[in-house]
Amino acid sequence: MEQKKISLTTLKEMKQQGVPITMVTAYDYPTARIVDEAGIDTALVGDSAANVVLGYPDTIPVTVEELLHHTRAVRRGLRRALLIGDMPFMSYNVSVEQAIANGGRFLKEAGAEAVKVEGGGWVAKTVAAMVEAGIPVVGHLGLTPQTASMLGGYRVQGRTAESARKIVDDALALQQAGAFLLVLECVPDRLGELISKTLVIPVIGIGAGPNTDGQVLVFHDLVGIQSGFAPKFVKRYAKVGDEIRSAVSRYCSEVKDRTFPADEHCFRIPDEEFDALRRSLER
Ligand code: KIV
Repeated sequence: MEQKKISLTTLKEMKQQGVPITMVTAYDYPTARIVDEAGIDTALVGDSAANVVLGYPDTIPVTVEELLHHTRAVRRGLRRALLIGDMPFMSYNVSVEQAIANGGRFLKEAGAEAVKVEGGGWVAKTVAAMVEAGIPVVGHLGLTPQTASMLGGYRVQGRTAESARKIVDDALALQQAGAFLLVLECVPDRLGELISKTLVIPVIGIGAGPNTDGQVLVFHDLVGIQSGFAPKFVKRYAKVGDEIRSAVSRYCSEVKDRTFPADEHCFRIPDEEFDALRRSLER
């Protein structure tokens, strides 16, 4: 049976009913199909595409065009999950007009149902204008990778009363501005819980403890495509990278020793047709 499409209202109701919301990143069509079939509630085409699938050192260089391309692919793979596109660094920071124009492209040209922006109080005016223009917006607080250098690197945020208070105030400002969802990254678990309880909009945590309204992970971390360093908040549910490496390595060996392709992978031509071909070549 086809499951009901997730909407902004569904997420609001899930929070009210205490049902945890699941979110995962997706960057392409096959991944989108897999996560949708697995029952994910929301798929985020994160600007983490920059480092995860495009090989950039961080999220700074990725462009609107690049993320639109990935968002379109994910759109084609989703049936049920809500699709959120991430707005890259400097695509909403210059002016409200720029933010509306770029945010609108994610909806019009790529089929996103909402966009995500990073930042606190300073971005609230922009969020309000985007919402006013009809663009559903997700906020992102705590560790905000686009401005990680200003936060002292990729580190836990809100460990002092003062810095935690700032995050609470920023969260309230984003909610007041009309954001319908908040991603909260890398903050102490008790702060994650407090903000989730304080806000009426759902709070999706990544490294924010178990008591937020939902959780998000980067797809490649979740399935273990890379086996090296992973942040403390990552849980690898599989070691898909090892499986892929082993499959490609076996393929290489079988091509080298001519055991692939085998009989069952070959097409046939009837004997009489092949004989006729030979005879025509001998003439
Ligand atoms: O870009 C991204 O993948 C994100 C998630 C980690 C929330 O912003």
